[in-house]
Amino acid sequence: MSELFDYIDKNKDRFESELFELLRIPSVSTDSSHKEDVHKAAKFLSDHLKEIGLKDVEICETKGNPIVLAKNLEAGPDKPTVLIYGHYDVQPPDPLDLWTSPPFEPVVKDGKVYARGASDDKGQAFLHVKAIEAWLKTGGDLPVNVKLLLEGEEEIGSPNLVPFLKERKEELACDMVLVSDTAMFAKDTPSITYGLRGLAYMELEVFGPDRDLHSGVYGGAVVNPLNALCRMVAKMQDENGKIQIPGFFDDVKDLTPEEREGYKKLPFDEDGWKKSIGIEEADGEAGYSTLERKTGRPTLDMNGMWGGYQGEGAKTVLPAKAGAKISMRLVPNQNPKKIAQLFEDYCNEIKPKGVKIKVTPHHGGDAAMTNLDFYGLKAAAKAFKDVYQKEPLFTREGGSIPIVADFERVLGVNTILMGFGLNTDAIHSPNEHFHLADYHRGIKTSARFLEVLEDFSP
Ligand code: BES
Ligand code: ZN
Repeated sequence: MSELFDYIDKNKDRFESELFELLRIPSVSTDSSHKEDVHKAAKFLSDHLKEIGLKDVEICETKGNPIVLAKNLEAGPDKPTVLIYGHYDVQPPDPLDLWTSPPFEPVVKDGKVYARGASDDKGQAFLHVKAIEAWLKTGGDLPVNVKLLLEGEEEIGSPNLVPFLKERKEELACDMVLVSDTAMFAKDTPSITYGLRGLAYMELEVFGPDRDLHSGVYGGAVVNPLNALCRMVAKMQDENGKIQIPGFFDDVKDLTPEEREGYKKLPFDEDGWKKSIGIEEADGEAGYSTLERKTGRPTLDMNGMWGGYQGEGAKTVLPAKAGAKISMRLVPNQNPKKIAQLFEDYCNEIKPKGVKIKVTPHHGGDAAMTNLDFYGLKAAAKAFKDVYQKEPLFTREGGSIPIVADFERVLGVNTILMGFGLNTDAIHSPNEHFHLADYHRGIKTSARFLEVLEDFSP
């Protein structure tokens, strides 16, 4: 352990500058104008993996963005095999004017690196690469078999990764998946996430007259699509925040009394949390705590809404059409396709007369839960303890990593979610950042995990 950790300490500055190189590549997966950058990031990673001494490295082309796959199976068939998964694509950096430094020019301030993807997920994915390097460069080989899978489409719902898992099922066979794409419960509080929410993302469009109309000449006598949309959205939840879509809760796996007790024991600083996002009051489904609402209960939220005049000043106009993007976060046992259908049926039911609607499902994904008895979690806990000098908490998270459910479905394995980010890292927001101390502790934790894993294997 000490040789390994010495290597990591000695190479700290280089490990940072290499991450910054990756952060300089604007690999935005949702924006086709960044296609070349996405390929550049895949190439950077594959070249880098070869440089650190991995021999079996492949850029796998897909219908969309490439998948980087590297393997080192030198430990042999008697040792466990870990598939490490991460994503090198990032969310768009908009709104650009709110960044205090350019999103693809990493800068370090107060021990944090600021850049799009710093925490989600380049920093967290790359720390495993550095852990592998530490093993390969300290004289030995890896203590367990490792397969590294880095994709470029997580932020758009991983559309090509499921077919890839199925096609290469044998080649990807493993005993567990290790992912760092979540957050720690709080600063200096190592956490293992055992539950993620699923997602059904919908678009709802409302169409009225065949053109925008003068709001004085026509107002009051035609159904305004924007008013109609607001009426519909208002019917999706009642005043207690309860979702009103018939059948929505049918398959929901309720929180057990034990789990609710567990939630109460977590050291959640609700006032600090409110302060960190500039709100005075938390709100949500009646009967549940803030932590339960944001990680263990389903939601329905508008993510965007448009229609009518949005320019400067006032324009008296009734819009011809209006639209909204709506995300529903799901909990275990809810099926995103079924929820999407229920949403569409409900929209048809509550649609005001005089307008037409179109409902389009976007990406979705299942919620995921890791079995708490899984031995890999014990090894992860040990690694965290050795590096952070603290027992990790076991938590659920509200975000989604849809492929996690497929790792279980297709490869039949549990996923260990070992997060090194913080919920305050501003992922998907302006000024995303990652604490460099956690980048380095993450490298050590990953390296240590590979070392102790075998001790826990049954
Ligand atoms: N890293 C996040 C997911 C996450 C964030 C999990 C915080 C737990 C805590 C991931 O990159 C992400 O943003 N996922 C998307 C999935 C979607 C695009 C299908 C999400 O949750 O919105
Ligand atoms: Zn993300």
